Amino acid sequence: MEKVIYQAKKPLQGTVVTPGDKSISHRSVMFAAIAEGTSEITGFLRGQDCLSTISCMRQLGVKIEETEDKIIVHGKGVHGLTEPKEILDVGNSGTTIRLLSGILAGQPFASMLIGDDSIAKRPMRRVTGPLKMMNATIDGRDYANLTPIAIRGGSLQGMSYVSPVASAQVKSAILLAGLYANGTTTVAEPHKSRDHTERMLQAFGVDVTSSELSASIQGGQKLTATNVHVPGDVSSATFMLVAAAIVPDSDVTLTNVGLNPTRSGIIDVLERMGASLTFSNEKTVGGEPVADIRIRYQELTSTTVEGAEIPRLIDEIPAIALLATQAKGTTVIKDAEELKVKETNRIDTVVLQLQKLGASIEATDDGMIIHGGESLHGGSAESYHDHRIGMTMALAGLISENPVSVSGTDAIAVSYPNFFTHLEELQGDS
Ligand code: S3P
Repeated sequence: MEKVIYQAKKPLQGTVVTPGDKSISHRSVMFAAIAEGTSEITGFLRGQDCLSTISCMRQLGVKIEETEDKIIVHGKGVHGLTEPKEILDVGNSGTTIRLLSGILAGQPFASMLIGDDSIAKRPMRRVTGPLKMMNATIDGRDYANLTPIAIRGGSLQGMSYVSPVASAQVKSAILLAGLYANGTTTVAEPHKSRDHTERMLQAFGVDVTSSELSASIQGGQKLTATNVHVPGDVSSATFMLVAAAIVPDSDVTLTNVGLNPTRSGIIDVLERMGASLTFSNEKTVGGEPVADIRIRYQELTSTTVEGAEIPRLIDEIPAIALLATQAKGTTVIKDAEELKVKETNRIDTVVLQLQKLGASIEATDDGMIIHGGESLHGGSAESYHDHRIGMTMALAGLISENPVSVSGTDAIAVSYPNFFTHLEELQGDS
């Protein structure tokens, strides 16, 4: 699908209810599926990725009902999943394939995992390597690095693993396998990655201990069903925050934004760059901090984004790159090699597409350098079927001198099905 965006700096005004958090939605269905009893999930994100998780869990024998406002999961207990008759298709979802691999490593049966063309290129060894060290039998293309991946689980052995990357997908897969392992399983990482797995396992009654850079779980524990309320996704809210931050005279409020400190790097970056943010209605929802955020347009200045901050905003970097094109000075993003193994190589795709629209931006080995403060001329851009690239390019159309036409916008439904509706509402066009 192609979309032409041309709003010639028309201010955004109004309030948007932030869509459910993608990371937390995936976990809610997976954990409820292996819990004892029935769990009800509200605020669930019905994006393509999370729907892939639902369909995989159904193939593993779990009854999941979808009503208008909730997802009802009839848990089978830790040992209740059954061998799938068909191949499990994760679609575009890296979180589904990585976390599910951890659960499947503990099952005494065989399963096969595939996904779309993007998943077929994304490295799985970071997960299958440690799971094999715990005793799971796993194979796949390139020695269990690429899909299709076949897993035969069984009696796992707990271990202490030091992950070379700060990845919540890696950490979560190992902790989930640890539920099925003898003894204790510990994962350490170089910087703290998002901790939704640790928080939600605790809500399901599992004892998980964590320190700043590691988490441990004791095998043999059970999960007890609980109702989960999924907070709004700060990664989706980011697109509306950035839209308001770059279009003069904008004044936008986003309600129900999840502000877990392992995810809120974008807020720190916006504040460093001089954005005007106010927070209200702060509370805790389902063990996660949440608030409403009001943003009013203000001129921005450049910043540097690096080190431990990177995992706290890894999915927001495409939007930050666009933000930086409108900020005075030179913004540097470094230590972000992980961008290369997302839905696309986001160093390449962001830089190339923003260059095409007239931005002064260059790629580096571990990030990008953006010379900001100049307007974009517009033109045509593509999403490469990466939802976050599609949304970033669409926002570029709000501030370009000429229209921006973005191809492959259907990919946006992966994480933000109402993206264009929300944008139109804020522009008073709906
Ligand atoms: C996710 C973790 C991140 C993030 C992805 C979702 C998760 O990946 O980029 O969109 O839900 O655990 P890594 O943990 O591999 O960096």
